[in-house]
Amino acid sequence: MTAVYFDSPHSDEERRGRIYRGDIYVYSPTPATLGLCALANRLSEEAFAPHSPEIAQDFFPVEEYADILSKLKPMFIHDPEAKEWIRKIFKQFECELEQTYFDVPRLRTSTSDGYLTSGIAYAFHPHRDTWYSAPNCQINWWMPVKAQQAGNVMAFQNAFFDSVVPNTSSNYDYYQWNRDSRRDAAKHIGKDTREQPRATVEINCKDDLRIVAPVGGVMLFSGAHLHSSVENVTGKTRFSIDFRTVNAKDADAKLGAPTSDSACTGTTLRDYLQGGDLSKLPESTVALHDSGVGDGDFVYDPNAG
Ligand SMILES: [Fe+2]
Repeated sequence: MTAVYFDSPHSDEERRGRIYRGDIYVYSPTPATLGLCALANRLSEEAFAPHSPEIAQDFFPVEEYADILSKLKPMFIHDPEAKEWIRKIFKQFECELEQTYFDVPRLRTSTSDGYLTSGIAYAFHPHRDTWYSAPNCQINWWMPVKAQQAGNVMAFQNAFFDSVVPNTSSNYDYYQWNRDSRRDAAKHIGKDTREQPRATVEINCKDDLRIVAPVGGVMLFSGAHLHSSVENVTGKTRFSIDFRTVNAKDADAKLGAPTSDSACTGTTLRDYLQGGDLSKLPESTVALHDSGVGDGDFVYDPNAG
């Protein structure tokens, strides 16, 4: 059973506990979420000018489009304004800044009609983030930048939340992925040859759950939920923002979703920054979650090699 709470008055602690049990929280837009969306919107409109970002795919050869995204997406991630908005979002959502760590916000795109579904605009098959070395206490924050419809949002295969789904995560090591596969995302056009964790059984997506929130509305859910990109045939590219958080106390206590089907190695916890002073999580916390083989890069360096 998945409960979906709208504009709930629950405290952050109660919210986290329920999210670890599979519940989803949806909130109306706030000044801070709208501020973050406005930043993404402005950068996207500048990148695709004179075309509207939602239909820009109709005007560019796919290689040129991928090239534009390969510049736009890092520009958004590294804009200092984005971190400021996130700090304001935490305040509005009553998250304790000293305990709440976040991974940089990503701008995501889902193009229509299979125009670009690999590499820099990867269309995600059903997966748990915990198959990609995320900790069980990871919470995903997801918000639309442009008005969305059921045909271009993301979907939850929520019936699988606490069941075992056979998968290939044993082939995934986060540190090797950082070293070998991240930098070249934009080169994967038409076909994505990077091996990623996926279910080895058929996942029935017929009964998936799709939540269509307004621009700046935000969904919070466990990174252990099975979730995917919807096959987009709406004629419009979806623009959305997501980022992840972990609460340091929960990470220390190893709280989180009850996943028992992840066999990946490494941990993404070294990517996280404290909401207050942007410091990293203590290595003692990271070590509790680190099963890496030590062969690769702890964190991704876009300028290396
Ligand atoms: Fe995901």
